[in-house]
Parts: sequence; structure tokens; C-alpha cells
Amino acid sequence: MAGKLMHALQYDKYGGGADGLKLQHVEVPVPTPRKDEILLKLEALSINPIDWKIQKGLLRPLLPRKFPHIPGTDVAGEVLEVGPGVKNFKVGDKVVAKISHFVGGGLAEFAVVKENLTVARPPEVSAAEGASLPVAGLTAHQALTQPAGIKLDGSGKQANILITAASGGVGHIAVQLAKLGNTHVTATCGARNIEFVKSLGADEVIDYRTPEGAALKSPSGRKYDAVIHCATGIPWSTFEPNLSEKGKVIDITPGPSTLLTFALKKVTFSKKQLIPLLLFPKVDNLEYLVKLVKEGKLKIVIDSQHPLSKAEEAWARSISGRATGKIIVEP
Ligand SMILES: NC(=O)c1ccc[n+]([C@@H]2O[C@H](COP(=O)([O-])OP(=O)(O)OC[C@H]3O[C@@H](n4cnc5c(N)ncnc54)[C@H](OP(=O)(O)O)[C@@H]3O)[C@@H](O)[C@H]2O)c1
Repeated sequence: MAGKLMHALQYDKYGGGADGLKLQHVEVPVPTPRKDEILLKLEALSINPIDWKIQKGLLRPLLPRKFPHIPGTDVAGEVLEVGPGVKNFKVGDKVVAKISHFVGGGLAEFAVVKENLTVARPPEVSAAEGASLPVAGLTAHQALTQPAGIKLDGSGKQANILITAASGGVGHIAVQLAKLGNTHVTATCGARNIEFVKSLGADEVIDYRTPEGAALKSPSGRKYDAVIHCATGIPWSTFEPNLSEKGKVIDITPGPSTLLTFALKKVTFSKKQLIPLLLFPKVDNLEYLVKLVKEGKLKIVIDSQHPLSKAEEAWARSISGRATGKIIVEP
């Protein structure tokens, strides 16, 4: 593929608001895989809010590492070339991979991925389903299994879980994974998605725009042992009265106030805790999630699918914050 050009979308400066939509369609060289890398012909990419938050400058000056930057990290595709150190994949294999946010490159026809964050995609799992799993699926998995301590084989002791924004990319996976464990799940979403979130297995669902929903009160009067907090803008004072004695709020969008509360709870030896979560992707967990989809134990809901030629519409859809499930771009 050396010397061949491909279609991609990139941005060359930070921008927010209307500027945040400005992705440029460009023709750039197809990347070449290095020793431990694989070149993929992409079949699907899923967008995550962090992609456009990086464009807005949220992680400035760390990310992006340089301009211009082709965003996109969660991909499914077919192996076209392998670097000399790649052992487990060959040309023609269908795979799912998580690209580092430091590198990006997913919003394109071709991308290079590292072998150590690549897994096989069986025919029962569509490219769109596979591409939905890396950030959203791994975040839901990490939050539930690590800080919340839920055993997904159902062997742990019973726990009451609250999942906020259960209709979103992370939330809709978190509800289903939580129900694999020994849990009672309360979930929040907008009125239009209540039946949808119940269909994922949530035991009770509350509309976040009602007073009871905004107060996060469990209709059955339960106190939460863990909250997988996928929404934003809810203060600790709203969570606190709803937590069990050692209840934990796992905040997957930690801002300065989360970090402050986290530190305060630590130094005062509070039993109730607020825990900021940053994703550390693990290939074994990605393999596990693909297997769950293959076995029909995890259903991936696609909000919308957009061709690469109109990828800016997918970008705008994610920025709107109204997605139900995952937003997919297809080259
Ligand atoms: N720490 C990490 O590594 C990590 C990883 C993944 C994601 N995240 C962060 O986690 C957050 C969620 O990500 P996502 O991909 O799931 O987002 P998403 O798919 O864009 O979430 C959209 C959904 O959230 C619902 N929603 C919005 N505000 C809500 C509220 N206050 N209560 C209940 N539901 C609400 C919306 O429902 P309506 O349309 O009805 O309002 C919509 O269905 C983002 O801030 C993202 O940046 C962090």
C-alpha cells in the first residue's frame, strides 16, 4: 500500500462550539504498519464523546499529540498487512481493535492498530457491533468489575447498582453487564428511553427529568452499593443520601469537583466514596466482550450509521449528547 492515498477526516486546531464540527475531508497516505502493528481496511468506527472533547481542547496540551490529527480509536476491519513482529493475525482476518488516543487515525479508510489491543471478530459479531466495544464496553466492564467489585459470573454477593445515562454508549452496555452479576439495577434515562432501558434488563428505570429522577431515588427504596455514573453534572450532595453505608460513586467523566471530592473523602476516611475512573484498556476484556456479543449475552444498540463521506454528521450527533447506544461511521 506504500504511496497509495486514502480518504480521511482530520482537524488542524483546537475548537469548540460550531468550530467543533469542523472536520476536514482530506486525501492522505495510507499508513505503514511497524513491527508490532497491523494495517486494517476499516469496516466500522464508533465515535466516543472523548474524541470531540479532545478536539475542544479538554486534554490540552497532552492530546492530540500533534496537528493535523485524524481522530477515532474504536475500529473493526480486515487485516491487509502485518508488521514483522505480529504473531497472532494474518492477512484476511476480521478484527476489532482499540487505537491509542495519542495516535488516533480511525476516521479513515485504513488505519494501523497495535497487535496487543486487537482481537478476532467472529462472523456472528457485525463490524458495527465490534467497533462499539473498545472504549464504551471496556469502560463499563472496568467500572463494574474493579471499583464496584461486581463478579460477572454472578458469584458475588448481591449488590444494588445505579447506572446513570443508561441509554448512552457506555450506559446501555453497563446495564447488561451488571445484570450478568448478582445485582439489582436502577437506571436513569430520558422518558423516551424508559422501555428501551428496561428491555436491557434494568430492574427499575427513572426519568432523569422528573423530580424523583433528578434526586436519583430508587422507586423500591434501595440504597446503592455502587453508582456507575455515565451522566455529567450531578453533585455529590445528590448521590450521598442514596448510597448504602459503604456506597461508591464511580465517575467516568471526572472533572475538578470529582477530584476534589475524591481527595476529601479519602483524607476524612469517609466510608462513602467518589472514585474517578480512567480507562486502562485490556485485550482480555475486549475478547470477553466480543464473546458475550457472539453468544447473544450482550446486545449492542446502534444509534445511527453514517458513511465516511458524511462523518461530520456522526460527530455532530455525538456532540448533541442525545445518542441512544453507539454512533457508527462506515468507510
Ligand atoms: N473515563 C473514561 O475513560 C470514559 C470512557 C467512556 C466515556 N466516558 C465519558 O462518559 C460519558 C458517557 O459516555 P457515552 O459514550 O455513554 O455518552 P453518550 O452515548 O453520548 O450518552 C448519551 C446519552 O446520555 C443520556 N443522558 C444525558 N444526560 C443524562 C442525565 N443527566 N441522566 C440520564 N441520562 C442522560 C442521553 O439521554 P437523552 O437524550 O434522553 O438526554 C443519551 O441517551 C461521557 O462524558 C464520556 O466522555 C469516559
